[in-house]
Amino acid sequence: MMADKIRVLLNEEEVNKRISEIAAQISRDYEGKKVHLICILKGGVFFTCELAKRITVPVSLDFMSVSSYGSGTVSSGVVKIIKDLDEPLENEEVLIVEDIIDSGRTLAYLIEVLKQRNPKSIRLCTLLDKPERRVKKQVTVDYTCFTIPDEFVVGYGLDYDQKYRNLPYIGVIEQ
Ligand code: IMP
Ligand code: MG
Repeated sequence: MMADKIRVLLNEEEVNKRISEIAAQISRDYEGKKVHLICILKGGVFFTCELAKRITVPVSLDFMSVSSYGSGTVSSGVVKIIKDLDEPLENEEVLIVEDIIDSGRTLAYLIEVLKQRNPKSIRLCTLLDKPERRVKKQVTVDYTCFTIPDEFVVGYGLDYDQKYRNLPYIGVIEQ
């Protein structure tokens, strides 16, 4: 197997430092409340754990797995729920935790679906944002750790063909 060459974009220390800052901001914003984190599998799992450990208000966790419908290059924007949440969202202060917002199609659809379950509030937190790639302009991100250029990144939950999710940093595969 040929090893890919990976250039470090954001090292482990930088990522963890930034997650601590965002966790502190979330802890302030949700003072006196419980925050219900929804981890979007699989990519969001590393970020969700690191974030949750640093939030000081009460936290509950649930998990959801989604995939784009169809395999064409142009996504319809409709996502298929592979694994739904275990718990209802009624009266919850929901914070969706994603690895990356790219076109925004996944989140635009997901937010509409989750809103129908009557949460008290719904916000979005992402490790990475690639705003240059956004198609769904209505997706507003409440908490962003890093805004990055239009490059394909791996690590910290992000994969290339299911590989490299476990890298403790964020890197770019060199061509
Ligand atoms: P969106 O619906 O286009 O915003 O899709 C976001 C999803 O595409 C993410 O949850 C990732 O699974 C995947 N994705 C987008 N950009 C990257 C990348 O640079 N590396 C790895 N996965 C990516
Ligand atoms: Mg992926």
